Amino acid sequence: MKDKLLGLVPPMGWNSWNTFNTAIDEKVVRESADAMVETGLRDAGYEYVVIDDCWSLKKRDEKGRLQADPEKFPSGMKALADYIHGKGLKFGMYSCNGTMTCARYPGSFDHEFTDAQTFADWGVDYLKYDNCFKPEINGYMLYNRMSMALRSTGRDILFSACNWGRDDVEQWIRSTGAHIYRSTGDIRDNWRWIKMIALSQLSKMPYSGSFCFNDLDMLVCGMYKKGNHAGIAGGEEPVCTDTEYATHFAFWCFAGSPLMLGCDIRDMNDATKQLVTNRELIEINQDIEGRSPRFLGINPETPPEFFWGVRMLSDGQIALAAFNFSDKDRTMTLPLFNVGLPSSTGKGLLARECVTRTDAGVFCDDITQKVEAHGCRVFRCKIIDAK
Ligand code: GAL
Repeated sequence: MKDKLLGLVPPMGWNSWNTFNTAIDEKVVRESADAMVETGLRDAGYEYVVIDDCWSLKKRDEKGRLQADPEKFPSGMKALADYIHGKGLKFGMYSCNGTMTCARYPGSFDHEFTDAQTFADWGVDYLKYDNCFKPEINGYMLYNRMSMALRSTGRDILFSACNWGRDDVEQWIRSTGAHIYRSTGDIRDNWRWIKMIALSQLSKMPYSGSFCFNDLDMLVCGMYKKGNHAGIAGGEEPVCTDTEYATHFAFWCFAGSPLMLGCDIRDMNDATKQLVTNRELIEINQDIEGRSPRFLGINPETPPEFFWGVRMLSDGQIALAAFNFSDKDRTMTLPLFNVGLPSSTGKGLLARECVTRTDAGVFCDDITQKVEAHGCRVFRCKIIDAK
């Protein structure tokens, strides 16, 4: 038995892809690690600094090993890992189950055990594993193979599978040993995409939990369309408002998704900093029981755009959330009967609203909230005797 279990709660960190795309280098990664500490992100629970695609040379070395591009990473990956570890953080990297990564750098297919060893030798703590240029072999076998390769190194490496929610991945991925898996396509830095991803997950929540969480993709909070590639902004869609970013963050927290920041953390405004370090939302995300929420009143034929969710927490409290993804302000009522607390139980809920971090009083019989378009409320509730 190990003393620390990888994947018990969703990982938190930063990933280079959303903002930097191909323009990733040692300077950006070191500065981002510095920023993780200086801005208080580390203290709020963020720990992984992850380099996504485009870090390697296009050729393996004479022993068949992946090599870091010396122009982008002149000190090499081991030195970078040491730097990151020296800050009390963990180091993540990226590869792919196909012959090439999505950006056409060498993939790990048929090199899994060599690559896993290379990552372990460099001090890597997290591997994101993509799905491009995959041979005609079923995905289960490819993810299983890399999982075994990582485990056989003896190093604790969190395994992040990324097949974009395809091939009924939720049916088989947990058995591969992946700690998280992408249950959706790539996110874009706009409300339309955030909403699409969130709504696509309502029926997938039962699959998510400790040791294999649904990964709703990296957060776009605080990007304001400043990512350096066209894809991430997603065309002509408007820049997200802070309300929209707050709903995005709250939904990812409530749903138990990994919290991987994708903005430039060296340059966050106050609103972003406050939002992504909101301890009350993070505590729900990091709850040690890792239970997924249940969303109520969901009709499979007509996906609702505003709904309540319920999540059981490990300390005897429950989290209740109202999400309004629709374009109109809504008055949303949750009869407590629907969560098993009719007035005949003699119980009510003492609630704290976590987005605004304010006490919300006692609710008996029902909770009614006016929720603005694209807004949300997330309550942490204690069950008390109703007066
Ligand atoms: C995609 C993946 C993105 C990013 C990109 C890199 O397949 O979903 O998150 O890793 O590849 O090329």
